[in-house]
Amino acid sequence: MAATRNSTLDDPFYQPADEFFPANSKIGLTFDDITLATLYSEILPRDTQLDTQLADNLHLHIPVISADMDTVTESRMAIAMALNGGLGLIHYNMPERQQLSEVSRVKNHVHGLIQEPIKVSPEQLIGDVLALIEQKKFGFSTFPVVDGKGRLVGLLSGHVVKPRYAGKKVSEALTPRTQVHTIKKKELGRDPIARADKFFTEHIGIHKLLVVDDDDHLHGLITMSDVERITQERKAQFKPARDAHFHLICGAALSTTRNAFGELDRERILNHVSALVERGVNVVAVSTAHGYSKGVGDTVSVLRDAFPKLPIIAGNVTSAAGVEYLADCGANAIKVGQGPGSICTTRIVAGVGIPQMTALYVCSRAAAKKKVSLLADGGITKSGDIVKALTLSQAVICGGIFAGCNEAPGEVVEISGKLYKQYRGMGSLAAMKAGSAARYGHEKNPAQKVAPEGVEALKEACGSVDRVLAQLIGGIQSGMGYLGTANLTQLYDKARYIRVSPAGQREAAPHDVVELKTGN
Ligand code: XMP
Repeated sequence: MAATRNSTLDDPFYQPADEFFPANSKIGLTFDDITLATLYSEILPRDTQLDTQLADNLHLHIPVISADMDTVTESRMAIAMALNGGLGLIHYNMPERQQLSEVSRVKNHVHGLIQEPIKVSPEQLIGDVLALIEQKKFGFSTFPVVDGKGRLVGLLSGHVVKPRYAGKKVSEALTPRTQVHTIKKKELGRDPIARADKFFTEHIGIHKLLVVDDDDHLHGLITMSDVERITQERKAQFKPARDAHFHLICGAALSTTRNAFGELDRERILNHVSALVERGVNVVAVSTAHGYSKGVGDTVSVLRDAFPKLPIIAGNVTSAAGVEYLADCGANAIKVGQGPGSICTTRIVAGVGIPQMTALYVCSRAAAKKKVSLLADGGITKSGDIVKALTLSQAVICGGIFAGCNEAPGEVVEISGKLYKQYRGMGSLAAMKAGSAARYGHEKNPAQKVAPEGVEALKEACGSVDRVLAQLIGGIQSGMGYLGTANLTQLYDKARYIRVSPAGQREAAPHDVVELKTGN
């Protein structure tokens, strides 16, 4: 006789979304208010697939997006997210021209190619180079040597960068151009790492390959150690998120830009998005605090008419009506979240917003009807929250979790021996002055009376995005293993929920112990 896999005895307690949320319709629930019940499983966490389709031509290998915030996502973060299979949305608190360059940096990123290597000139003294290494704390001592026009004239090897040669000129110590191994940029092809790997195997003892153009201008440097690290990483389960041309994918956020008369500046929006599309942007996000509004709807409609195939994200909303409205305007993916963010004060200041799990459920019904995706935006502090969010959405957007990473904009500051990075709400006074006021329906003019809807804060520095994502992904995969779900579609179908009492919430975290090491 086959072993029992499901029992009706569980049904009154652990309910699927369509029973659980309507039964709790009088209260707003968020992540910690609920927990997911385990189910019979034949799935090991490591075998779970996290691929997600946000629009016809927008596919991620992991359902995680870094927020369009000025202390979270610029090109470095977007590159790291895409390399891990996710997506970064470049914020818009910068001049339009700069946003274009940030997108270009992501689209032109060649993994393993140091695009702007530190160079030295033939006239410098070895002593100057030593001082530079000391001052900048470089962990390497081999440098390409270029002339005033950026043309390669040789390579200064680490074994001659010694104090005994301090008085000698770089030109006397360098390996001359004729003996330096180079490759033309156009010869790198679609897979520069495989090309460089082959080169290093064929050239015993050579550890550096310089990339040049037809006129011998230096365009980059590939090192054998980077190639070996990346080749190793490629065995990882989650591949980088790339477009059809093998470029990393990248998103850019937009606001509902207005002209001097307060009308939507259609021309300016269209010009900017045309330029973004020219640079290869894969998705734009019309990103405001109140997405169920004419300004956002009109912006989405204008873009949909002008760019029929461009994936568009729009938000934020917390109602089915909001989802239907933005879907009808032409959005493919809709951001859900008003006030859950770690730096948000919208609920306190404006008295509006809905706890995130209830908002996601309500929105998910409309999303299913309109065939659009949902992005759970804000309030995520741990991988378990992501698992819960993914039972009702196609991906999550995180700000705070990534703001302490090396790849987030901003400097590390030391306070009482601990390292931190700045993290601020896009509705904080400082961010609004820097440009994001439109997102909250305010004027940028600081003389104007504005009500900030976000705080300025610090996040503890937490290392690389790779490390943070590895932990989050591990947690998501564990959750899927407990629910016996091999992919995200099964997660939406199989999840069953129950509310948690305050004592249950305390029970869920480490308790009655002296913690020596935190779980992260
Ligand atoms: P987490 O919790 O990941 O939230 O830090 C990031 C999300 O919060 C939103 N956001 C804000 N919401 N006031 C708000 O009410 C703000 O100043 C603010 N700044 C960002 C945004 O949706 C982001 O993705």
